[in-house]
Amino acid sequence: AQASIGVTGLAVMGRNLARNLARHGHTVALYNRTGQRTQDLVEQFGSEGEFVPTYSPQEFVAALERPRKIIIMVKAGAPTDAVIDEFTPLLEPGDIVVDAGNAHFADTRRREAALRERGLHFVGAGVSGGEEGALHGPSIMPGGSESSYASLGPLFEDIAAKVDGAPCCTHVGPDGAGHFVKMVHNGIEYSDMQLIAESFDLLRGALGYEPAQIAEVFRTWNSGRLDSYLIEITAEVLAHTDPATGKPFVDIVADQAEQKGTGRWTVQTGLELGVPITGIAEATFARSLSGHVDLRRAARGLAGPDRTAPSVRGSVPDSFADDVEQALYASKVVAYAQGFNQIQAGSAEYGWNIDLGAVAAIWRGGCIIRAKFLDDIRAAYRAESTLPTLLASGEFRTAVEDAQDAWRSVVSTAVRLGIPTPGFSTALAYYDALRAERLPASLIQGQRDYFGAHTYRRVDRAGSFHTTWADDPRVEHEV
Ligand code: 6PG
Repeated sequence: AQASIGVTGLAVMGRNLARNLARHGHTVALYNRTGQRTQDLVEQFGSEGEFVPTYSPQEFVAALERPRKIIIMVKAGAPTDAVIDEFTPLLEPGDIVVDAGNAHFADTRRREAALRERGLHFVGAGVSGGEEGALHGPSIMPGGSESSYASLGPLFEDIAAKVDGAPCCTHVGPDGAGHFVKMVHNGIEYSDMQLIAESFDLLRGALGYEPAQIAEVFRTWNSGRLDSYLIEITAEVLAHTDPATGKPFVDIVADQAEQKGTGRWTVQTGLELGVPITGIAEATFARSLSGHVDLRRAARGLAGPDRTAPSVRGSVPDSFADDVEQALYASKVVAYAQGFNQIQAGSAEYGWNIDLGAVAAIWRGGCIIRAKFLDDIRAAYRAESTLPTLLASGEFRTAVEDAQDAWRSVVSTAVRLGIPTPGFSTALAYYDALRAERLPASLIQGQRDYFGAHTYRRVDRAGSFHTTWADDPRVEHEV
């Protein structure tokens, strides 16, 4: 056995992870169902480090030092199970199987339990950063046992992105914790992208800016507190011109956003755990809505405000672009606050004991949502690990309070102009609902008690109560 680690599934993500490991001096065994991929990798990139190409599962397993470490990088779902089933009979107690794909954390929990029965370690590792990240330094979110991290950790930390010299990788928690955190990462990614897209739509719709001009606005924002990978690439995409037509690239791309499902999982899990992740939900629904071509066609032409009318256009304040920056920042804080609450809830539900400050720390580099302000989130959770919400904490509280006037102005301008801003609107509604002294939920309780005797609690006495709504007089009973 010559290889310290093996990678199977050599499409672009697997290939780049293998290259990253080899570039860091680790000998990497390679296996792919189609041998040509293995051969191609060695031919094209063999000079980057030590690879051991193999052409059967048996040969692959035999090439690995013990305890064996195998990274699986195939499609989530059935293909992952098929690969696990193929390899487990060949492995020995103590060996470690890593699933680096975007698996559902419930699948990871199931697989971890099944492999543990056989004395094997199963590690669901979230890997973020796309193709470039996998090659040059991703953010890595491994779950699984402590002891598996003891041997895998050094390799992962070696190839992960670094921020201030610290690797963007930490042992997130047992079994499915890593994939859970990666799922929420993707949910936040959806939310971030939607908010940025709404900002673009607002600048264009309300100010009449061209995409190239908006790219400049984003570039400016990227040098401030919004400094992040997603803002940076947004400026690039907006500045790009379609070579075939000479039109702005964003105008020739079909406006139907696709998704592979991680955002949907985040929303489903949020509902199951009872965590109001409204920003992620709206972002996921906004993608879904954009894809409903028939629905949109049927509704096209429904009346809306005339944006060219002086009364409408004249209502856009001069400070609008700056207001959008503030609304974007505040809405982004809401999205992250909700996402971190979801991690908190998942951690409590499954007994993962996730360190939220450490999660924020490893998201500072390598991953798609990497952003300057994750350092502030890290600091907030370092100061208070059980923080109820980021919104009410220190500098976020101040920033959001300072932004609220602009935020309201942007949402009301959007409403007046008929520009849909589900992300901004839901974030502001969340802010207002959380800070409200009283919510109309009391009325909902009354309605429930009226039609279904579902009972209610009172503000002034303990216990459950029901009112006999059909009787005259209506009498309250304690139940
Ligand atoms: C990452 C990305 C990555 C992938 C998304 C895309 O962290 O590197 O999140 O995992 O690009 O899954 O998701 P959609 O296809 O659902 O937009």
